[in-house]
Amino acid sequence: MEADLIYITGDTHNTLDMSNVSGKHIRFCCKNLQADYKRISTVIILGDFGLPWYKCPVDENGIQPTNPTEKYLLKWYKSKPFTILAVMGNHDNYDMIANLPEVEMFDGMVFKVSENIFYLKRGEVYKIEGKSFLVLGGAMSDDKVYRTPHESWWKQEELSLEEKEHCIEKIKQYGCSFDYVLSHTGPRKGISVFDDSEIKDTTVAFNDEVEAMISYKKWFFGHWHSDWGFNNYENSRFVPLYHMGIVL
Ligand SMILES: [Fe+2]
Repeated sequence: MEADLIYITGDTHNTLDMSNVSGKHIRFCCKNLQADYKRISTVIILGDFGLPWYKCPVDENGIQPTNPTEKYLLKWYKSKPFTILAVMGNHDNYDMIANLPEVEMFDGMVFKVSENIFYLKRGEVYKIEGKSFLVLGGAMSDDKVYRTPHESWWKQEELSLEEKEHCIEKIKQYGCSFDYVLSHTGPRKGISVFDDSEIKDTTVAFNDEVEAMISYKKWFFGHWHSDWGFNNYENSRFVPLYHMGIVL
């Protein structure tokens, strides 16, 4: 049987929540959704993938970690029977991502971490398993004052004006219509399904702008450590995820 299903889950934070992508856990979610685990070709992580977190050499094959934990984590991911695609979050090393080789995939350009791991670019549109995905990403770290620039915090976490303009252009090019949207933090409407507090994040404001100009079936996002989207999938266009996963 051909593998043709996409599994979407939330932040993995380097090793901290790597169990989101364990075979056992994905099988558990698949069972809940009556989906066949063996048919999963692609796993999408909705930001804060966090590998690489530490600076390391990069060549045309991707990263060559020197940190023992990252060596182990990379080996673990490489053993997976699917392709892993990461949206960019706020706990991702943007300096390292910018160094990664860019390769063409899914009708767009991606950053190569390894043979089967790639970061999806913000403001890019991809065709994966016949479905169109608008990919956004980033978020503001509310603990950034406690973090060290270029070591545990990267200012690129929030989109630059140029990136936003490029993204809007791209959206128009595609006629403002997509099957799905992937982002790290959500648009305000999506977050408000589980959290009503005030948010000061330019990324959310940008996501709101995008949300108002496009048509789409579902909007998946991570960041908030909420599985509300898994429990309310059928009845909501907004799908926040953390540990649980949805199959398309
Ligand atoms: Fe996050």
